Amino acid sequence: MIILAPSILAADFNALGKQINMIEGSGVKYLHIDVMDGNYVPGISFGTPVIKSIRNNTKLIFDVHLMVEEPIRMLEDFKDAGADIITVHAEACSDLAGTVDKIKSMGLKAGVSLNPETSLDKLDLIIKNIDMVLIMSVNPGAGGQPFIHSSLQKIKDLRDKANNIGVTIDIEVDGGIRHSNVMDVLKAGANVIVAGTSVFGGNILGNIDRYNKLFLQYEDTV
Ligand code: DX5
Ligand code: ZN
Repeated sequence: MIILAPSILAADFNALGKQINMIEGSGVKYLHIDVMDGNYVPGISFGTPVIKSIRNNTKLIFDVHLMVEEPIRMLEDFKDAGADIITVHAEACSDLAGTVDKIKSMGLKAGVSLNPETSLDKLDLIIKNIDMVLIMSVNPGAGGQPFIHSSLQKIKDLRDKANNIGVTIDIEVDGGIRHSNVMDVLKAGANVIVAGTSVFGGNILGNIDRYNKLFLQYEDTV
């Protein structure tokens, strides 16, 4: 199944609740929530108080992307704030396997993210224990950047790797996804599509509708 995960980093924070309700009303299931700590990435976005307050307003699945150094320190806080899926960066964890185990032991889905320069080999020890791999198609830290084209080959290689070892895994792709390139990302083997600017920029419902039509078009070809 193909899933659209709108990233609230590109939302209008002055109208966040309303925009989330609009997204939920359109039938979208995931909300991608980018947490930046000012250390693993230079910028700071928002943390648990914001997540907690939007949790009261929606039943969407909270797909929390932690761009945070040593996230193992704060996994419980994000669970308590309302996360359903927690994704950590392989580069940010000194004990990646332990971090994944902790997310799973809390009863949440676990994702591991790789930066554009990070090799798929980093997944070898944990790929059987996780639910999702997040392939960054920009360098993490900001919305609105151009898609890095070599990510397509990496997605294909990851889909092959997962098939070869017999694991069913979600492949999420994040950064620079637009209506104009999403087909390539789907064809490469991704099934969870993060989109910030291309959902929240302009007409939100129209943008989602265009994505849904492209997803149907893709599904017709497979
Ligand atoms: C980047 C974030 C992304 C970002 C995507 O560090 O992880 O989720 O919001 O934004 P767009 O879709 O605008 O590239
Ligand atoms: Zn993200």
